[in-house]
Amino acid sequence: MKILVISGGPRKHGRTAIAARFIERTYGFHTMDLSVMEMPMYTGEEEQANEPVVKSLRQAVLEADAVLLLSPEYHSAMSGALKNALDFLGSTQFLHKPVGLLAIAGGGKGGINCLNNMRTVMRGVYANAIPRQLVLDPSTFDYDTDGLVKEAAEQVDGLIEELKMYARIGQEIKAHQIT
Ligand SMILES: Cc1cc2nc3c(=O)[nH]c(=O)nc-3n(C[C@H](O)[C@H](O)[C@H](O)COP(=O)(O)O)c2cc1C
Repeated sequence: MKILVISGGPRKHGRTAIAARFIERTYGFHTMDLSVMEMPMYTGEEEQANEPVVKSLRQAVLEADAVLLLSPEYHSAMSGALKNALDFLGSTQFLHKPVGLLAIAGGGKGGINCLNNMRTVMRGVYANAIPRQLVLDPSTFDYDTDGLVKEAAEQVDGLIEELKMYARIGQEIKAHQIT
């Protein structure tokens, strides 16, 4: 089963990157980190489809059985970096695909608007954003180990278990040509 993580934080050494590295280490999922990918700004011009970074993002999402989106909450929404990357994608890559949503917030009850924003955009590309979702506040990070505190790691595990369940259902649907 292929689960693709898209790390939507533009800051190379930010908490979003820590969470993505933790997930990559723990679960071995392939990660596309937008802080290092140098995605161009989406213009809709046809030449952009030939850019290697655009091709690799499109191919990776297309091939994935499920996608996990990580984004910092910026002004009550997902990051511009993640929205820009998602603008290169659409239902061709996302149709019926299970997508897990994880927001990284600044504390003080942030994060829910980022999750809702990602959920709305996932509906726009006909993905299947799963019900379980998660916000990670600064206090949930273990900066010494470049990871997460135990409770947060368990919550991530719950999110990933649900994502895997929907990915398995998706595989069954494909295998039996139900759609
Ligand atoms: C431009 C900007 C806007 C932000 N807006 C919010 C917000 O609306 N809600 C929130 O909880 N945190 C907000 N934050 C805090 C970030 O979500 C938080 O610091 C997060 O860890 C940033 O991700 P990073 O560590 O991967 O860079 C904002 C930060 C920035 C730079």
